[in-house]
Amino acid sequence: MTEMTPMPQIPDPAAVALDWFPRVFQDDVVYAGNIGAAWAPGRVNLIGEHTDYNDGFVLPMAIDRVVAFAGRARHDTIVRLWSNHFSEYIQLSLDGLPGTFESQRNGLPGWARYVLGVMTELARAGVQLSGFDAVIHGDVPVGSGMSSSAAIEVATAQTCMLFSQGRFSIGTGEATLQPMQVAALCQRAEHIASGVRSGILDQAASCLGRPGKAVLLDCRSLDYRYLPFDAPEISLMVIDTSVRRELATSAYNERRRQCEEAAETLREIITRHEPENQSTYTIKALRDITQEQFERYGPQLPEVLHKRAGYVIAENARVLETARLLEIGALERVGTLLWNSHAGLRDDYEVSCVELDTLVEIARQVPGVLGARMLGGGFGGCTINLVRNKAIETLSKAVEEQYPARTGLQASIDICRAAGGPGSTWVS
Ligand code: GLA
Repeated sequence: MTEMTPMPQIPDPAAVALDWFPRVFQDDVVYAGNIGAAWAPGRVNLIGEHTDYNDGFVLPMAIDRVVAFAGRARHDTIVRLWSNHFSEYIQLSLDGLPGTFESQRNGLPGWARYVLGVMTELARAGVQLSGFDAVIHGDVPVGSGMSSSAAIEVATAQTCMLFSQGRFSIGTGEATLQPMQVAALCQRAEHIASGVRSGILDQAASCLGRPGKAVLLDCRSLDYRYLPFDAPEISLMVIDTSVRRELATSAYNERRRQCEEAAETLREIITRHEPENQSTYTIKALRDITQEQFERYGPQLPEVLHKRAGYVIAENARVLETARLLEIGALERVGTLLWNSHAGLRDDYEVSCVELDTLVEIARQVPGVLGARMLGGGFGGCTINLVRNKAIETLSKAVEEQYPARTGLQASIDICRAAGGPGSTWVS
């Protein structure tokens, strides 16, 4: 008897994209290979917000929501894409990349700029790319702070690999590109596509995902370590304010500049006071300032910089404390650190907004909610809530009743699990 090979488990959005592909592209193109699908997950960040670009620590996890591509390789250098979410069709050319990036980007919608950005960075890295046609479908909420942009970037890299006719591979060991190299490449793609000087958090979380695990990442050395995140009696609820603000891009870059200025000013102050202490000359980022140095010299900073730096230094310490608690299986005790993280983001880093604060205040009143805070860049998007299973319903009800009354808006509620990283498969 011959054994049947089971069809690999593929995420729902990949199945939908596979279903759509033959319906969208039916213009008799002679393809170079079989139909295949590739995908990558969005992420939530348990703690460590705005620490990544300060060379600090983050503790994210990939979630069970992905962006998927399904399609076929072409014989030429053309890429044609249909986005189900945006109901939009685009075409781009791999010819002349990275040189033709600017001229092509200007004619593309936002989502396609991320795709072009990744292809540009792959070309810059010396990878030879093939054209393809594909349908994109995803279930990562767009623009809500769950990193739909990182998911599309990392999924693009996977798709390029799948259709590259074996010319490059992504993985550990002998592969052409290691997961963290893909993350760094996708981070650069985000910069050139969107103009946001984002850190590596989102792309790393997507590339490194593992079921039931959070990942502690040192954003300076890029070393990482998996930690258990799978307590059966506790859930991670993600609640979307439904607010998106344009301000986010300019405010993000402004925060980053302020942190760089704070680190530079602190280095000058500290070396002036401690000229004999060699280690102070190598201060490069807020990561390098100890709590003790900050208490002593921080008050000499201008007020705004003092607030920004104080938040980042405290948040880095909270990440390491959270990692310690996860390591000893004390997820329950992480809650206090989440409340404190939110307070810092609201009062000192000033990236929250009234809708996010309202959701956190509502959660605070519900017994069984261990902790909650805003997620991601801020100024809208979601909160994450660490909740005992038996409190899920009470929190959902409290949000449904109080949030519209207090803000005039509807929130949407989701439960996320720590899930695996990118993947791909051939289907015929
Ligand atoms: C956005 C950025 C990340 C990170 C977070 C804040 O998601 O893309 O690099 O800075 O904001 O923690």
